[in-house]
Amino acid sequence: MSAPARESAVPGPQGEGAAVPALVANGLGKSYGGVRAVDDISLTLGAGERMGVIGPNGAGKTTLFKMIAGDVAPTDGRVELFGRDVTAVPTARRARLGVGRTFQVSNLFREMTVLDNVRVAARGGTAGARVFWRPQGSRDQVTARSRETLESVGLAYRSDDTVAALSHGEQRQLEIAMALVGDPRILLLDEPAAGLSAAERATLRELIEQLPRTIPILLIEHDMSLALGLTDRVMCMENGHHVVTGTPAEVRANETVREIYLGRRDRKEES
Ligand SMILES: Nc1ncnc2c1ncn2[C@@H]1O[C@H](COP(=O)(O)OP(=O)(O)OP(=O)(O)O)[C@@H](O)[C@H]1O
Ligand SMILES: [Mg+2]
Repeated sequence: MSAPARESAVPGPQGEGAAVPALVANGLGKSYGGVRAVDDISLTLGAGERMGVIGPNGAGKTTLFKMIAGDVAPTDGRVELFGRDVTAVPTARRARLGVGRTFQVSNLFREMTVLDNVRVAARGGTAGARVFWRPQGSRDQVTARSRETLESVGLAYRSDDTVAALSHGEQRQLEIAMALVGDPRILLLDEPAAGLSAAERATLRELIEQLPRTIPILLIEHDMSLALGLTDRVMCMENGHHVVTGTPAEVRANETVREIYLGRRDRKEES
C-alpha cells in the first residue's frame, strides 16, 4: 500500500538526490543560562546512513536531538534537512518534511488502544508532531496504514489492547510504529532501549536492524552494544562537547570513550 500524499503546505524538496545528506548539523550550540548543554556540534547523516550518538548522562544528546527536531532553538549553528536550512522551521513543519522520532520519555496515551495510538500519530495528533503527512484519504486508509505499520513492528496482535497492558518493550515497539506510520525520511530515536530487559533489548535491536535501509537513523543509546552494533558511525559527546566520531571499531578503541564507558562504568550501560 502506498502512503498517502504528504501535506502540500510544505513545498517538495529541491535538489534531492543520493548526494544530498538527510541531515547536516553545523556548529550547533545551546546555552541554558550558564549551562552550555551543547557546544559546537557538527554532524552529517548521509542517505541511508545509521549513526549512533553516545555519551554519559547530561552529555547533551537529547538537547542535540531537540535542536534537530525543532523543539529547541539553537543558540548557535544551523540545521539542514534534506538539503534545506530548517534552523528557523518549527517542529511540526520539520515533521511534515519527514522527521520521524521517538522520545526519551514516552508520551503514549496509556488508556487508549495500541491501534488508536498509531491512528492518532498518523493524524499528527500527538505532542511533538512526530508525523508529517496528514491523511488526504479516508478513515479506512488511516486504519489500514496503522495496522500495516503495527504488523511491521510485530505488534499487530496487540492492536486492540490498551497501552497500559503492554510490557515496557512493547511500548517501545509501539513508539517506533508511531514514528514509522508517516513514512519518515529520517528517524531520530532517543534511547529506545532505555530500561528494557536483555530479552526486550534483543527484540528491539532486531526491529531496528530490520528497518528499511533507505531510512537514515540517528540513534541515541547508552547501551554500547546497541549503539555500536546497529550503526555505521558513532559520535561520542561529553559535557556538551564532541569527543570523537568514527566507525564503531574506532570509537570503541578511543581512549576517552574507554575512560568514559569502561573506566567510569556509566551506570546505564550495566542496567
Ligand atoms: N530545558 C533545560 N533547562 C536547563 N538545562 C537543561 C535543559 N535541558 C537540558 N538541560 C541541561 O543540559 C545538559 C544536557 O542535557 P541533555 O538532556 O541534553 O543530556 P543527555 O545527554 O540527553 O543526558 P541523558 O543521557 O541523561 O538523557 C544537562 O546539564 C541538562 O541539565
Ligand atoms: Mg537524553
